[in-house]
Amino acid sequence: MCQLSEFVLMDTSIGCILLMVAAVYVVLQVFRFIFADADFTMLWAASFGKKPESQLRGRVVWITGASSGIGEELAYQLAQIGAQLVLSARRQNELERVKLECLGRSRLQEEDILVLPLDLLDRKSHEAKTSAVLKHFGKIDVLINNGGRSQRSLCLETNMEVYQALMELNFLGTVSITKHVLPHMVQRGMGTVTTVSSVVGIAGAPLATGYAASKHALQGFFNSLRIELADSPGITISTICPGPVQSQIVQNAFTEKLSKSVSQAGDQQHKMTTSRCVRLILCGLANRVKEMWIGQQPFLVFFYVWQYTPTLAWFVTGRLGQKRIKNFKAGLDADTAYFTKPKVA
Ligand SMILES: NC(=O)c1ccc[n+]([C@@H]2O[C@H](COP(=O)([O-])OP(=O)(O)OC[C@H]3O[C@@H](n4cnc5c(N)ncnc54)[C@H](OP(=O)(O)O)[C@@H]3O)[C@@H](O)[C@H]2O)c1
Repeated sequence: MCQLSEFVLMDTSIGCILLMVAAVYVVLQVFRFIFADADFTMLWAASFGKKPESQLRGRVVWITGASSGIGEELAYQLAQIGAQLVLSARRQNELERVKLECLGRSRLQEEDILVLPLDLLDRKSHEAKTSAVLKHFGKIDVLINNGGRSQRSLCLETNMEVYQALMELNFLGTVSITKHVLPHMVQRGMGTVTTVSSVVGIAGAPLATGYAASKHALQGFFNSLRIELADSPGITISTICPGPVQSQIVQNAFTEKLSKSVSQAGDQQHKMTTSRCVRLILCGLANRVKEMWIGQQPFLVFFYVWQYTPTLAWFVTGRLGQKRIKNFKAGLDADTAYFTKPKVA
């Protein structure tokens, strides 16, 4: 009897200790999450995973949209790591500037960086562009589908041409380049295709119906492609979903008419720095992370809420979205306006 009660007591105290350990673990994770700027898999990859410096050095990386913003910063960080680069976008002079800067910041030689002007809309040219890369480097290890444009306009005011342009650029242009590069990777049995989607590739956002649709389309395309390529284990298909990041994205966004540009981009300083976003992307690439959620709080929590509790997400975004629309109508930058008091026009 005495032995039995001792056993029950011991059993209870082990249970208590385990509960306490679990509680401490949960508190630690919550605390970590408050200061996180990427999902847990990404944070693990960045802290304990393989380093981009060891995985990407000497790789041939083709970046679209390399003339500004995230693509430009990708070029700089990859050059510093020692990757060979193909820089593509429409503006050749900007690409030459980025190349010069890459050479200045790294030990790369002139021939390690190919400037390859490319219009994602000109799908007929994509075969020849791919051949040009293969002729220069003999292989493509990583394709980063980064080029794209956003949107700042309400659905009711937006012309159909704008929706068409968003799909042509963000979705079909990306699919086209991918379709030309993929056979080469399948033949080699290795390679990575990574695509810069967005938080709105998973969630919805006012003023971005067409942009969100184009990014959702990319998510669907690449999630399905990944399964199709399951018997090619050397090929990685990944999508990158950043929240707001400092870049030229707002200035370059589509509005309700093709001919109209955004009147004012607003201050971008509150957004995640481009360098931090790109460092996380490279850690994700080095560790073959399939979907990367990158965003400062409260955007990071938004990913989780949208993914796991959509009803709550619709409630919250309904409220916040109205602020965004009011400020947009008052002529203010829609991004800055999310968490500030709505201004009246
Ligand atoms: N910044 C953010 O907050 C954010 C958040 C989530 C996702 N993203 C995504 O990140 C990617 C990069 O955007 P960013 O923020 O770095 O914006 P950005 O500074 O405006 O850069 C966009 C890039 O796309 C290129 N581009 C535009 N139209 C093109 C075309 N027809 N053909 C080829 N290239 C074209 C631009 O170069 P040219 O003008 O020289 O062609 C530029 O290099 C985009 O896919 C965007 O949707 C950005």
